[in-house]
Amino acid sequence: MSTVIKGGTVVTADLTYKADVKIEGGRIVEIGPDLSGEEILDAAGCYVMPGGIDPHVHLEMPFMGTYSADDFESGTRAGLVGGTTMVVDFCLPDPGQSLLDALKRWDNKATRANADYSFHMAITWWDKQVFEEMATVALEKGINSFKHFMAYKGALMVNDDEMFASFSRCAELGAIPFVHAENGDIVASMQEKLMAAGNTGPEAHAYSRPPEVEGEATNRAITIADMAGCPVYIVHTSCEQSHEAIRRARQKGIRVYGEPLIQHLLLDESEYANPDWDHAAARVMSPPFRNKQHQDSLWAGLQAGSLSCVATDHCSFTVEQKRYGLGDFRKIPNGTGGLEDRLPLLWTYGVNTGRLTPNEFVAVTSTNIAKILNIYPRKGAIMVGADADIVVWDPQREKTISAKTQQSPVEYNVFEGKQVKGLPRFTLTRGYVAVEEGAVKTKEGHGQFVARDPMGPVNKALSTWKDLVAPRKVERTGIPASGV
Ligand code: URP
Ligand code: ZN
Ligand code: ZN
Ligand code: ZN
Repeated sequence: MSTVIKGGTVVTADLTYKADVKIEGGRIVEIGPDLSGEEILDAAGCYVMPGGIDPHVHLEMPFMGTYSADDFESGTRAGLVGGTTMVVDFCLPDPGQSLLDALKRWDNKATRANADYSFHMAITWWDKQVFEEMATVALEKGINSFKHFMAYKGALMVNDDEMFASFSRCAELGAIPFVHAENGDIVASMQEKLMAAGNTGPEAHAYSRPPEVEGEATNRAITIADMAGCPVYIVHTSCEQSHEAIRRARQKGIRVYGEPLIQHLLLDESEYANPDWDHAAARVMSPPFRNKQHQDSLWAGLQAGSLSCVATDHCSFTVEQKRYGLGDFRKIPNGTGGLEDRLPLLWTYGVNTGRLTPNEFVAVTSTNIAKILNIYPRKGAIMVGADADIVVWDPQREKTISAKTQQSPVEYNVFEGKQVKGLPRFTLTRGYVAVEEGAVKTKEGHGQFVARDPMGPVNKALSTWKDLVAPRKVERTGIPASGV
């Protein structure tokens, strides 16, 4: 069967033009005027854009004594309703667990996905087996990115020596490390001090993770990556300190990418001062929400191109799960949702305000990450031969965000009450119309794993690494006979 998206304006990361788009067998087969096909989707007044790719989600994630509340079915359904057609989740091996065994678990969870997906492999422990399995993961399993947590001491955190070893391995394999950059030692120490002083509420979560701990860790991760000779991707960049480190490194020619979340762009630290415990706890995530100056820095980074991708870090927990941390903020499961709302919110607060052009919107929600993950132009493009992951975007359609109407089973939405203008008219996943004028017709299990090849040497860092990996031995004439 052929489908034609008719009468819309194609918007990609670099072009805007009027054209019909014809789809067959899940792919784009023709772009041009006056195309005909068996199924016609009316795109009059709409933009025809590559579907969103969310590079950072945690679906059914085992974390802090529980599992995040959205699974691959509800998570990808939420994504499709909001115009996101692919997600990348994090595969988390238990300490001592084989990476390949962990991957089997994740493969299993993802069988219910409504849209395409991929995984980043987390490095949560280190030894020779991990070193060896990284090659299988990158070269045979189609996973060219490895995640490192510099925070969550005693759980997911890795040390500098482990990061340097893993980053060096990434350089050999043409893979890219992803990093959660917060100084986990300092966070743990501040958490203890706050608890000892009787600061047990959700606001203390924010006090324990100031921008400095993020800035320090971001600088450290970038330096380690530069020494290892690999690019690096900093997830959930939330503050000026971290953004500044990324800007400075990029100016030096180091390939580092920063990822602000839609939450950090729009929500601020005053949420933690809400007298309602559940309200504040629902917003506990790492890094925490910041003040307006940090938000301005993130928006500026998107405009200037120093920050590359807007993600959600979608990791939702129910009210009951959040209450695990009553009396001890350290036990509040960290995470917030956003998969369904990322595109409408970024359009409303980015494009409608004039901060971003529609082309920049496509770049930061889809095309940039497709390039970084080496799946462009199969994903992130409106191009003949590309997968027909397409959102037909109606810039006039409006709604008020509410937990009452969302796809996620969680009882609340951190964006509750926000008005958005700009929503999907249709969302297509490999040609299948999963959302039509608000009606959800997702097909459980339709989503497929997207394998990603390692990248070429173009992603090698440019700075000091060459000297470090090729040390020269000095021929000495004066060597003392003994150390005494
Ligand atoms: O608080 C967060 N961000 N939870 C999800 C795990 C992570 O650190 O990304
Ligand atoms: Zn994180
Ligand atoms: Zn509230
Ligand atoms: Zn995350």
